[in-house]
Amino acid sequence: MGKLSDVISNNHHENVEELKELLRIPSISSLSEHKEDIQKAASWIAGKLKNIGMEHVKIVQTNGHPIIYADWLHQENAPTVLVYGHYDVQPVDPVHLWETPPFEPTIRDEKIFARGATDDKGQTFLHIKAVETLLKVEGKLPVNVKFCIEGEEEIGSPHLPQFLSENKEKLSCDVVVISDSDMWDRGIPAITYSLRGLCALEFSLKTAKSDLHSGMFGGGVQNANHLLVQLLSTLHDANGKVNVDHFYDDVVDLTEFEKEQIKALGFNEEKLKQSLGLTELTGGENNFPYPEKISSRPTLEINGLWGGFQGEGTKTVIPNEAHAKITCRLVHNQNPEKIQQSIKKHLEEHAPKGCTLKVTLGDTGNPFLTPIDSPMIQKAAEAYQNIYGKAPVYKREGGSIPIVSDFNQSLNAPVVLMGFGLPDENLHAPNEHFNLENFDKGILTICSFLELVQK
Ligand code: BES
Ligand code: MN
Ligand code: MN
Repeated sequence: MGKLSDVISNNHHENVEELKELLRIPSISSLSEHKEDIQKAASWIAGKLKNIGMEHVKIVQTNGHPIIYADWLHQENAPTVLVYGHYDVQPVDPVHLWETPPFEPTIRDEKIFARGATDDKGQTFLHIKAVETLLKVEGKLPVNVKFCIEGEEEIGSPHLPQFLSENKEKLSCDVVVISDSDMWDRGIPAITYSLRGLCALEFSLKTAKSDLHSGMFGGGVQNANHLLVQLLSTLHDANGKVNVDHFYDDVVDLTEFEKEQIKALGFNEEKLKQSLGLTELTGGENNFPYPEKISSRPTLEINGLWGGFQGEGTKTVIPNEAHAKITCRLVHNQNPEKIQQSIKKHLEEHAPKGCTLKVTLGDTGNPFLTPIDSPMIQKAAEAYQNIYGKAPVYKREGGSIPIVSDFNQSLNAPVVLMGFGLPDENLHAPNEHFNLENFDKGILTICSFLELVQK
């Protein structure tokens, strides 16, 4: 590792400058006005992969944003590692809260600030640099490597499943490695062994033909906002449990070992409340500890609700329609489509009298869970130990990377989630950043992992 480590640290400045080029491209996947920028980011990555010596580099167009494929397959008897990452990013609003503009990467306090710095351009870039460094120093890679980098993760990867199922041979591998998650804390690496899935629904309630004067009709006709609130309030019980039939049917409880692990990792409630600006933590199910609630329990959240008058001043009106958006985070063994149907049924059965309800089903994504004693995870752990001098923590993540379960199933390969972000790097929020203390170390850890996989 000595030589690799020297080369990586000698090139640190240059490498960070290179990452800045990618971070300058506003590749926001959810906004159609950025379609060109998405193409630019894809070209930038493809160009870089060619440049470092990857072969068969291809920008695969889809009905959405492109996927980049590349490989290096010159170790005949060695295993094959497939690297997945995403180059698309979340929108930047509220933009006025950024200390420096989101697409003008800036370094402050040894952190690089920009949208995508940690999620996931910065972390994906570490893999590109690891491969580049190994090829430069050794003239070859210890294992075969394939890259599959997509531009639609932040919108639920709508086109990647088809690409996976149509290219099983091309993508076949012994392990999928992904850096799109975080470490436990400064200096304490983590391997994520579980991700939550999700499903979305939207619904609207309609009452009279039009809004009505609240003096002429008030007290007599039903109000769409009131009915919406009534209906929404049936979704949870007084203990914070989701009150939808069959919602918890397929949830598999944590093992005693996992509960012990979570306890052992500790949780500072006061510190968290302070950092969030909260005086109480009252969300979700009453009977579970906070660290379990945010990682291994399913949720149903109302993400948005609107209806009636929201302009300046008072308006004495009875609104005739109201709307809500809901998403659930789901855990191992729950089926997102099945849960959507249960919620739809619940809404239909509990819709108050005197309104028309319309439910629209949205996106779904599967949860993921993998055993922590699998050989590839153990190699990742060893790599972290080599570079950070510490064994990683094993954690369940509350967030989602829906495509992970597809990789696992479609390619029948284990997935290793090796994160290099930190939990306070503001992903999806203003002032997203990546701590540069994990930049060289991240590259080196990936080099070490690739070498360990060879053995
Ligand atoms: N990289 C995140 C998921 C994540 C966050 C993993 C923190 C580990 C730690 C990913 O890019 C993401 O934001 N996922 C979305 C998925 C959704 C848009 C389909 C999520 O979890 O909301
Ligand atoms: Mn991500
Ligand atoms: Mn994200």
